[in-house]
Amino acid sequence: MCGIVGYIGNRNCVPILLEGLKRLEYRGYDSAGIGIIQDNLPVIIKNKGKVSLLEEKINEQKLKSVIGIGHTRWATHGIPNELNAHPHTNSDRTLFIIHNGIIENFQKLKNGLKSLGYKFETDTDSEVFAHLIDSFLGKGYNLTKSVQMALNEIEGTYGLAVIYSKEPDKIIAARKGSPLVIGLGKDENFLASDVSALLAHTKNVIYLDDGEFAEIFKDRYSVRTIADTEIEKEIHEINMSLDELDKAGFSHFMLKEIMEQPESVRNSMRGRLVADTGEAVLGGLIDVIDRLVSSKRILISACGTSWHSALVGEYMLEQYARIPVEVEYASEFRYRNPVISADDSILFISQSGETADTLAALKEAKSRGALVLGICNVVGSTIARESMSGVYIHAGPEIGVASTKAFTSQLVVLALITLLISRKKGLSSIEGKKITEALIGLPEKIEIILKLNEGIEKLAEEFKDSRNFLYLGRGYNFPVALEGALKLKEISYIHAEGYPAAEMKHGPIALIDEDMPVVFVAPKDSTYEKILSNIQEVKARGGRIIAIADEGDDEIDELVDYSIKIPRTIEMLTPILTSIPLQLLAYHIAVKKGLDVDQPRNLAKSVTVE
Ligand code: G6P
Repeated sequence: MCGIVGYIGNRNCVPILLEGLKRLEYRGYDSAGIGIIQDNLPVIIKNKGKVSLLEEKINEQKLKSVIGIGHTRWATHGIPNELNAHPHTNSDRTLFIIHNGIIENFQKLKNGLKSLGYKFETDTDSEVFAHLIDSFLGKGYNLTKSVQMALNEIEGTYGLAVIYSKEPDKIIAARKGSPLVIGLGKDENFLASDVSALLAHTKNVIYLDDGEFAEIFKDRYSVRTIADTEIEKEIHEINMSLDELDKAGFSHFMLKEIMEQPESVRNSMRGRLVADTGEAVLGGLIDVIDRLVSSKRILISACGTSWHSALVGEYMLEQYARIPVEVEYASEFRYRNPVISADDSILFISQSGETADTLAALKEAKSRGALVLGICNVVGSTIARESMSGVYIHAGPEIGVASTKAFTSQLVVLALITLLISRKKGLSSIEGKKITEALIGLPEKIEIILKLNEGIEKLAEEFKDSRNFLYLGRGYNFPVALEGALKLKEISYIHAEGYPAAEMKHGPIALIDEDMPVVFVAPKDSTYEKILSNIQEVKARGGRIIAIADEGDDEIDELVDYSIKIPRTIEMLTPILTSIPLQLLAYHIAVKKGLDVDQPRNLAKSVTVE
């Protein structure tokens, strides 16, 4: 949420900042801005709307600077407009700051600063940082000390970048709860909220941890705690290529990511299956496997789409590993004083590895002694690093705000964890081999489903003007119904609800008429006969029905208006297949409505505020 980019070196930073902001735009895109020091004078350019508008504004002027910071915003305090866009400055405009996160005590600090004569121009909490730092500069402290002293007064979260025209040889960065990474170059260094903004320039990075503070010069850096203790940081090499961040000829990242699923699913299981014995090997869990297998209970916590994966994980683990599983929204978990013991294992699922609620829940669980494991996509992300152990899903960078390939890869990893635990708990090798074979067969089946794209596009034409949608599924496919509805509302702004099909009778059935399309996720699994009855109930009330059904299921065609037929797999893995037509349906409806699929209104890819 919100993107930060910074540069210090010998090159003109303006194109570097703009390119970085474009890479980060998926994190927030309601306004953007840069701050540079040109001929010793600070220059700030900001704009409401997308980075492309900022770029037009910047291109009208000849800007050149060897130090600068840039920001793309997702508004929290203050509406998205030019004034509230970052950077924010002190009164004499010598200092500018960029801030991701929320200052919880901003009103108190603001009142205090106002009483000292400071004038505020914006509605943001972030502006407090600029004046607060200024108040220490005014007392004669240097920039570094002033930022440290300001941080001591801040309650809340921040990923902070600061530059000061009177000390133009450094960028100061500080982190608490909002990610920051330093990129190391030769005679130049970078700062960003995620590595995608750095990749064009360097693969060597340092991840800042919470409570850390960095001074970044063009040829050196230092990292310290806010209390000023020097920290030796490890340099990581990013294992990602720039190509992975491009649309590769697709009209949208979302479509590219949907189409990548044969490969992303393959990557999630690469080297992790032993087909001969029907087992899974997960390097990240080797050290904790005994504790995991002997867990009395497994909790899974996440937000958004990752929470839907967690629900599927519950079905998988309970069916095969026979360990009680509970799934909880991270935002609820963190505040309700959950009963947790050392016998519990808690899985935190997060594509970005940065979601604020998930991270806070993880810290809460860790402090209570449970085994805490992360399932993340972004390598080196905070949740991955804060977990005791974990498994990367290896789906590759996901840029489209609506999660697609990360969802199916999360399900693959949950299936692998299920296989790993259940084989250790006595699941037979015959059963294990059925699962491994089915997993290995998935990419080919996904390819078959993706060939249905054109047909699904036609269906989208038929339904694009609907104002409501209902998605229903049972068992393993109840979470798929939730996910299908979420995909549609996220990008098409059509109201959609997902429900367990049988629950329909307890409310949603009242909504059904010819204007309410109902999507049934109905593969031939153990709940199939039951869901046929639910389809009958909708049909009897005139609802228009789309079914996701198995190839060769002619019976269902008698009941529904449209069907999308997909290859069969074992019940546990059906969500990995059934979710894909729903991704395509949502995608095409949104495109046909002329909406911004990759950057839907009000949403952000990585929600780093609670
Ligand atoms: C945001 C994104 C969703 C995502 C959710 C959780 O709302 O728009 O696509 O599912 O955050 O994110 P995470 O990175 O923790 O999986």
